[in-house]
Amino acid sequence: MNDISNRQPAPPTLLSDAELRLLQMLVYDQCGMHFDEKRTHYLQDRLQKRMRACRTVSFYNYYQLLTSHEGKREMAALLENLAVNETSFFRNKAQCDLFHKVVMEELLQRKQGGRDRSLRVWSAGCSTGQEPYTIAMLMCDALSYHCLRHPSTTPLPTPKPLVPPPWKIEVLASDISYSVLRTAQEGVYSESQMDSVDFAYRLRYFDKVGDKYAIKKALKEVVRFDFHNLKTEFLPQGNDVIFCRNVMIYFDQAEQKRLVEKFYRCLNPGGYLFIGHAETLFGISEKFRLIHHNNGTAYQRMEEQL
Ligand SMILES: C[S@@+](CC[C@H](N)C(=O)[O-])C[C@H]1O[C@@H](n2cnc3c(N)ncnc32)[C@H](O)[C@@H]1O
Repeated sequence: MNDISNRQPAPPTLLSDAELRLLQMLVYDQCGMHFDEKRTHYLQDRLQKRMRACRTVSFYNYYQLLTSHEGKREMAALLENLAVNETSFFRNKAQCDLFHKVVMEELLQRKQGGRDRSLRVWSAGCSTGQEPYTIAMLMCDALSYHCLRHPSTTPLPTPKPLVPPPWKIEVLASDISYSVLRTAQEGVYSESQMDSVDFAYRLRYFDKVGDKYAIKKALKEVVRFDFHNLKTEFLPQGNDVIFCRNVMIYFDQAEQKRLVEKFYRCLNPGGYLFIGHAETLFGISEKFRLIHHNNGTAYQRMEEQL
């Protein structure tokens, strides 16, 4: 008699075209990621990995699991496996400069005269946290410089807080993957991940822990992590700036249009949208104006004329 208890499941066979289309549609429906013919191999590879983890060789059984109520966790695991999480600190230096020197300057000036001194930036598709922490560092630096030029008339507590009242800064950082959100929340990075962080930033915003760099508590308090699937209708409102870089590149044009329309509604009037350097709003939306500074570009929400 054969002992089947230790037997590994046979490697799953390649999907038929019909099965592939079914899976593509399901993934697209769930998160907007679009797998065209060029990315079929990647989709097959990741699917097989998940099927092995679930110890199933039948695509039919796996598909049934994904679409069942009990399959929610597996769906999340599949989407995590399909997402590309590549990121880095100060990614696209020219865009960081535009944000720091032009956009922050304009927002701080605009708010200086009013009663609302809060700034809210959303990093949509934040991966392992380098983007939202970069944004937080740039915001805190810009605010410090602004406060030097516009000193507060009321005495500040000592030691001086990173974000001096009445100013408030919030960076909301979201992703569809729980595992990258956990890493981001931890905020601990290796030497190689710190390549693009210069020494002034390391000294001001990081603690050295063994051979790693940990984000300082005060900066961490500026960033709030949350799960958001950009495919859904209900997304965080009231943002002065949205960063959604290198995410839309995985969506098709129809989904990009829907997402940019949602971003328009999620931005405050005159708010800014930063997208990846390989992404564009050309042919996607006419509700934004392109702004640039040196080689950095972003989009500003235009108000509808009544
Ligand atoms: C290539 S990373 C970009 C990270 C960062 N924005 C940057 O430019 O360095 C793309 C991220 O988008 C996330 N993502 C993909 N589809 C998403 C969706 N539907 N909702 C939310 N996040 C999504 C992925 O999990 C991944 O972490």
